[in-house]
Amino acid sequence: GLPARVRIHEVGPRDGLQNEKNAVPTEVKAEFVRRLADAGLTTIEATSFVHPKWVPQLADAEQLFPLVSDLPVALPVLVPNARGLDRALALGARRIAVFASATESFAKANLNRTVDEALAMFEPVVARAKAEGGHDGDGVHVRGYLSMCFGDPWEGPVPIPQVVRVCTALLALGCDELSLGDTIGVATPGHVRALLTALNEAGVPTSALAVHFHDTYGQALANTLAALQHGVTTVDASAGGLGGCPYARSATGNLATEDLVWMLRGLGVDSGVDLGRLTATSVWMAGRLGRPSASRTVRALSPH
Ligand code: HMG
Ligand code: MG
Repeated sequence: GLPARVRIHEVGPRDGLQNEKNAVPTEVKAEFVRRLADAGLTTIEATSFVHPKWVPQLADAEQLFPLVSDLPVALPVLVPNARGLDRALALGARRIAVFASATESFAKANLNRTVDEALAMFEPVVARAKAEGGHDGDGVHVRGYLSMCFGDPWEGPVPIPQVVRVCTALLALGCDELSLGDTIGVATPGHVRALLTALNEAGVPTSALAVHFHDTYGQALANTLAALQHGVTTVDASAGGLGGCPYARSATGNLATEDLVWMLRGLGVDSGVDLGRLTATSVWMAGRLGRPSASRTVRALSPH
């Protein structure tokens, strides 16, 4: 069976833009977020509070966040360490994401740490975020990303037990949700099923899992369908298929949100997203970036 409803975790403003060479003006980013909210997306990853030298495109996080924080949507932000958490909390962020790696090579490239050093860096971040009193007394919501869950550009295929180990460690830190990243887009549906099953066997409930596919080999939708059939109800996607990770060789665009919405609509799965408004947003953003959208659905639905 399939879930009746799927929550789309929109990553366009963060994962989508972080790799853009030319600086996108802060006002354009803010309008992008506002248009995504207007299209019905309810979780929009806005930016990252990382070192500005590591991701120069998102160095304007302090300027951007206040321009969108009035929106009635969840606005998670990436936070790698205590300094990042300070910056995010100072602006009133209520949702953060830490980001771990299943492989040593990517942990080094992305965080300048070993896998376990990165987990040790996140431990006080997650603890402090969860201790922050919200109106619901539940603290700041913490997502734990796990990159390279299927394959790694330096190490090749990633053994499932290695992924399971870091997933359970992230949950033990107190993460509310885990996002399984196929950073370089090499996963295929059977591998997705095998990983989800292994996680369940290790005691990780499917309800705590999200999937994060990149479309390098055109497998992102097939992988998503396999995850939905397994019971996953949170799916990451990027409007227009923008994206790629600056610290992972051969990482191309994310699963396009429009392609996902087209599939969900056909399956009768509710996402709450207005495909027309979303497509118009990606066409507008493509104009700002000076190149057509990578999304097949955007191309099919927009005037030629
Ligand atoms: P480091 O060089 O080891 O930093 O980088 P450090 O801890 O040694 O600190 C060095 C200096 O940086 C210090 O300043 C800190 O204050 C400063 P100094 O005392 O020398 O003047 N600093 C900061 N400044 C601002 N904000 C901060 C911050 N932290 C330290 N948060 C660090 C370690 C984690 C900072 C660095 O590696 C980093 O910023 N990495 C971010 C990389 C990144 O954002 N990658 C993309 C996101 S992951 C992704 O895209 C994958 C995903 O989509 C899922 C998937 O597809 O798999 C999520
Ligand atoms: Mg990604």
